[in-house]
Amino acid sequence: MKKTILITGGAGFIGSNLLNYLVPKYPEYQFINIDKLTYAGNLKNLTAIADALNYCFYKIDISDAHSINKLFYDHKIDTVLHLAAESHVDRSIIDPMTFVHTNVIGTVHLLHAARASWQKNNFKDNLFYHISTDEVYGSLGENGLFTEKTPYDPRSPYSASKAASDHFVRAYHHTYGLPIVLSNCSNNYGPYQFPEKLIPLFIHNMKNNIALPVYGKGDNTRDWLYVEDHCRAIDTIMTKGKIGETYNIGGFNEWKNIDLILHLCKVMDDKLNRVSGTTAQLIQFVQDRPGHDKRYAIDATKIKNELGWKPYYTFEQAIIRTVDWYLENESWLEDILNGTYYKYYEQQYGKN
Ligand code: NAD
Ligand code: TYD
Repeated sequence: MKKTILITGGAGFIGSNLLNYLVPKYPEYQFINIDKLTYAGNLKNLTAIADALNYCFYKIDISDAHSINKLFYDHKIDTVLHLAAESHVDRSIIDPMTFVHTNVIGTVHLLHAARASWQKNNFKDNLFYHISTDEVYGSLGENGLFTEKTPYDPRSPYSASKAASDHFVRAYHHTYGLPIVLSNCSNNYGPYQFPEKLIPLFIHNMKNNIALPVYGKGDNTRDWLYVEDHCRAIDTIMTKGKIGETYNIGGFNEWKNIDLILHLCKVMDDKLNRVSGTTAQLIQFVQDRPGHDKRYAIDATKIKNELGWKPYYTFEQAIIRTVDWYLENESWLEDILNGTYYKYYEQQYGKN
């Protein structure tokens, strides 16, 4: 069966990895990527598929209701994979309102347009898939895991805005019958991640002998998943997930920040032929993030048992792939750090 799939936020980290994975895999499907091209959007991530016959891109802000409604009017979209979001916790602490506009209001505009377009056909063969985060569940103590039944307890403006969007997605299902599915994934890492997030920032700093700012004592814990494994999970849920359900995605791969950083330092010593222990000397403990969540850890039993998904890569394998990618793609990083990528979009599409 043919499908027209709208991907929002496809120029970002996970969205671009997802498009690079899905577009060649499903030549019979049409993929429409919409993205506002904020600082986090980079069309260079999509060079490999930019000219594919089953792919197109429009620069659209999801909080612009008129453009979203027109998009659904102009195209026979049957599936939405919704990834567009403001995604960085530190930015949400400085500027929460942008997170409300995109993550909450933008999501509701999309839900509204999908419902208006799909309900005349009784939502036949439609799917609104909302990609969310484990951060909506709050912060764990030393023990326990987040399951799909864990009550929501978001604690940062980012996670509060994602939680609000999750609630709206479920409300559209219960109130209007919109066919939805949700997934809540743990921290991702891999190629094309904007270098404000821990792993790409630290790889860059390690390579260039810049200090590594570790928040607090470095004893916060995150559960890390390679982005390609997340993309496979999204594909699995899109094709086999049950309407109305939520699936947690994770690789049972918890690391205390400081342990992960020390591991990364060893990998970098090795890659850069440095004497063992050299890179770790760059570690600097700095003031903690306000409200810093202590621990995230995902129980991914449901997606394994019900849909047969599990991660393909171990952390030790995929972190080496990730380091190799950043070392081999220096110009990608340089364009971001010196703003070249952004100036190009402003010339081509105008200022946001
Ligand atoms: P990202 O910040 O790298 O990319 C977000 C993309 O959305 C960018 O291309 C940006 O330009 C676009 N965007 C922002 N505001 C927009 C708007 N108003 N209209 C249209 N496009 C807009 O984020 P990411 O890490 O790729 O995350 C993608 C999704 O996955 C988010 O919904 C995030 O909450 C979720 N998620 C991320 C992680 C992670 O570790 N990165 C983990 C779990 C879930
Ligand atoms: P981050 O990549 O921002 O993801 P999130 O906050 O969504 O989990 O941060 C991952 C962890 O690393 C988090 O506990 C904060 C910490 N961290 C630092 O210690 N220093 C840094 O410079 C950054 C960006 C993050």
